[in-house]
Amino acid sequence: MLKVENLSFAFKNKPILSDVNFTINNGVIIGLVAPNGTGKTTLLRLLSGLLPHGAARLTLNTYDQQKQRTKYLNQMFFIESSNHLYQDLTAKDHLLYVKAMWHSSIDVQQVINELGMTSYYKVKIKNMSLGMKQHVILAMYLVSNAQMLLIDEPLNGLDPTSIQLFEQIFKELRQQGKSLLVSSHQMDSVGRICDVVYFLHDQKIQPLVNTGQDMMAEYMSIFLQRPQEQEAGDERANQV
Ligand SMILES: Nc1ncnc2c1ncn2[C@@H]1O[C@H](COP(=O)(O)OP(=O)(O)OP(=O)(O)O)[C@@H](O)[C@H]1O
Ligand SMILES: [Mg+2]
Repeated sequence: MLKVENLSFAFKNKPILSDVNFTINNGVIIGLVAPNGTGKTTLLRLLSGLLPHGAARLTLNTYDQQKQRTKYLNQMFFIESSNHLYQDLTAKDHLLYVKAMWHSSIDVQQVINELGMTSYYKVKIKNMSLGMKQHVILAMYLVSNAQMLLIDEPLNGLDPTSIQLFEQIFKELRQQGKSLLVSSHQMDSVGRICDVVYFLHDQKIQPLVNTGQDMMAEYMSIFLQRPQEQEAGDERANQV
């Protein structure tokens, strides 16, 4: 269980989060949704200790992020994007590295098979397509066997059958009791897999329990400016 209390963050004078509080239980998939440049990746970086925060208190399965940092981080996995992979290493090199660092007992070859990576697990990252690298990243999450998985836009660049495979794997991870916080712009997938959606709006988290509603319509109602507001904005812009 991840507990976040009083999390605020700003880049210089650009506020991103303002006194955010939430708890993520074990065995759930939470969607993290907001327009480009709102702060989704920033939130994931804060939770994984890659960005400093002030007075917030973050605990993962009772371990305090600041006081018990190694234990906290050992139960979490986050890799932001394929830009953070090592260009001259293969998929398998990455998986063996994660297995060692996270003291995992997961069978690397089994993960390679499960994700359909048998034809390219010996290929270097620099020679892979975007979708192949997305598979490598998901494989790293599986191999880590961490309890809390922070996943930033995992569906980018995937073909339809890969999207289906990824969704199936997310559900299996939930079944195993893992917690997934998954950012995405793909509202149809979010609607299919998430138990709760965190809409990041005005520096706050707006949670919405998924009861099968149209997530795209929910997105529009939260983030789309209404025509009157747009016109008022245009009017102000014209006066400048
Ligand atoms: N290192 C940084 N220094 C200053 N500002 C930053 C830095 N990183 C991000 N920002 C700003 O913080 C805001 C949130 O960025 P972030 O990357 O978290 O957005 P995001 O919601 O993940 O967007 P996207 O959907 O495009 O990935 C943006 O306005 C961005 O310009
Ligand atoms: Mg981002």
